[in-house]
This record gives sequence, structure tokens and C-alpha cells, in this order.
Amino acid sequence: MKNLLPVYPVFQIEPVRGDGCYIYDKDDNRYLDFYGGHAVISIGHSHPVMKKRLKAQIDELMFYSNSIVNSKQQEVAEKIISLSGISEDYKFFMVNSGAEANENAVKLASMANGKNTFVVLENGFHGRTAAALSLTDKMKHRTAFNTDFKVIKVAINDTEALDHVMENESVCAVITEAIQGIGGIYSCNKSFLQAIRKHCDEKQSIWIADEVQCGFGRSGKFWAFQHADVEPDIITMAKGMGNGFPVGGLMIKENVLPIEYGMAGTTFGGNHLACEAVLSVLEVLESENLIQRAAEAGEWIKQELVQMMGVKEVRGKGLMIGIEMKFPIAELRKKMVVEEKIFTGSSSQKNTLRLLPPLNIPDDAIHYFLHTLQKSIGAHINVTI
Ligand SMILES: Cc1ncc(COP(=O)(O)O)c(C=O)c1O
Repeated sequence: MKNLLPVYPVFQIEPVRGDGCYIYDKDDNRYLDFYGGHAVISIGHSHPVMKKRLKAQIDELMFYSNSIVNSKQQEVAEKIISLSGISEDYKFFMVNSGAEANENAVKLASMANGKNTFVVLENGFHGRTAAALSLTDKMKHRTAFNTDFKVIKVAINDTEALDHVMENESVCAVITEAIQGIGGIYSCNKSFLQAIRKHCDEKQSIWIADEVQCGFGRSGKFWAFQHADVEPDIITMAKGMGNGFPVGGLMIKENVLPIEYGMAGTTFGGNHLACEAVLSVLEVLESENLIQRAAEAGEWIKQELVQMMGVKEVRGKGLMIGIEMKFPIAELRKKMVVEEKIFTGSSSQKNTLRLLPPLNIPDDAIHYFLHTLQKSIGAHINVTI
């Protein structure tokens, strides 16, 4: 791969085909996907509904710019609002990725209230573009470019620290992941999210809920912030929204709306194929009842995990699960891929394994996963003690 920029350490596996919770290499080796390629695969690889809708759309029209009518975008907006049960007054803007959604969210917040101080959570991750990187904790690769606005860090669920900052600073926006993904699957509790809502209302600050990883049903509710019965000013989304098709979006409340053309825009965002990808995901989430499935399967998996040897803590909601082991997980994770052909994820916490399977993961795959994980932990502990 001499002409490619190396951006991640790479497992020497090349999938060529996917089907449900499995991917296959060119020799037809089958891998069980408990990671969904960084939390992207929500309705399973190559879902028949998605294949049919995308193929039909390719035959019709793949793209035209956002200066024409595209009623598919309206259909996507209506379906997200009705399936997730959020207020009707959100306006929807489609972009191409999670970082781009957050980049737009921060810009719109600052345009709306003219402030430039941001509150972020420890261990938060919001993407690798300029503003998103500035809001991300512990990024090694920040540059001078990323330091031109004030960022104040608060520990997750530290309501006292939040109160102090909100009372003493002129805050533009607070950005949260209701369940932190890369940070190691830590959840914001209900009272903490409610305190953010209250402070933002009182101080004309904007609450941005980054639902890029935890949204679209993964947590057992459509949006992970819905576990706290509150609504943010901006919701950003991507990953599971397109089940592998590159698409992102923002739901924006009236108090943060751009007031002129040009304040928000994109060439590719919301193109016809992207809309069909999202409509496929929404159709399958509903027809296969996948949000409830995520809630139930997640509870079952967590109950089994807490009983396993070597496990210190199990965190998360729905099918967004972190297993904190009593040892660093790098070797175990590698063994699971190479020897057992099961993909799992790492996180910024070296002892925490991240599970993000498709939401329609079948029972037999869960049984197999749990059995194999237990066996692999046993083998790992025997070798290392
Ligand atoms: C919570 C969260 N926000 C934003 C991003 C960035 O999304 P993207 O890689 O699509 O730019 C990620 C990616 O992992 C994420 O987990």
C-alpha cells in the first residue's frame, strides 16, 4: 500500500463481502463483527432492504446539488422526527460525516449567540477536523490552529464543576456524548444532562448532543440523551445513520438557526443516494423493531459479561457496551480477531474493550461471542499469570 497515507494501525485482513453480522475475506474466511467498523453498521452488512433501495436509486439519479428540490431530504427529516419522537420544530441539515456535523454545530452555536467559550467533557471525542478536534479531549495532534477559542473541560457527571463553569463563564455551547464511545463507554447520568439543559436555558448557551456514535437506536432509545428526558438545541448524527454509506446530519432548534443563505451549506450533503441509505436504515429499524432489540440484547449481554473471570466493570446501554478488564485488552483483542475471527473495539482506556455489534445481531451469534470471549479471557489469564 505504498501510495496510501497510513492513518490507522491495520489488521492484515481484507474483507470483500458482508452479510448481516458477518464479513468475509477473499478466501471466504468468516469474521463475526462485534464492532461494526467503528460503530457504523446498525442494520447489518449488505441488508437486503438497503441493497434494493440503493440499486434502484442508482438507476434513477445519484446526485444533484442542494439548489434544487430534493423531497427525499424532507422524507428523511420527517421519519427521524417521528421515529425518534423529538419535537416537530427541529430543522434538519444533511452533511457527510460526524466531524462535519459537529463542525457545523459549533459554528451555528457561535453565530447564534456570538460567544466563543465551549464546555467539553473529559474523555470526549468529536472528530478530527479543526473545531471538532479542539473539542476533543487528550488529542495528541492538536496544533496552534486548534487553540484560538476557549475550551473548558468538565468531568462527566460532575454537576458541581458544571455549575461553577456555567455560573462564572460566558459559555457559547456545551457539547456532550450521552454515552462516550472512544472515551471508554461512560454514560452521562440523567441529572447531569438535565443540569446542562437548565444552565443552557438560563444563560442562552447552546447544548450540542453529539449522537454520532450513540444515536440511531444503538443505546436502546433512538437518541441516547432520551434516557434523560431532555432535548438539546442541536443533535449531531452520522455512523449508524447510513449503515456504511457516508452521511451525517444535524437537527437544529429555532434558537440556533442560521438567518441567511450561505451560513450553512454543502455540495454532497443529502444527495439522493445518501437519503436512500438513511431511509433504508429507518425502515429496517422500524420493521425489525431494532431499538427494542438493542435494549434487550444489551441487557442480556451485560448480565453474562459481569459474571466472567477477569472482568472489572461492564458499562453502557443497549448495544454500546464497554468491558473494563483487570488487564490491558490489546493482546486479547488481537487474539480474538486473528485466532477466533471476531472483531471487537478498543477505546482510549487501555483496559476497556468496546462492543458495537449490528442492532439485529442474532441470538446464536451472541451465544458464540460470549462463549468465545470467556474462553479467550481464560486462555489469556492462564498465559499471563
Ligand atoms: C462521538 C463521535 N463524534 C464524532 C465522530 C467523528 O465522526 P467522523 O469520523 O464521521 O467524522 C466520532 C467518530 O468516531 C465519534 O465517535
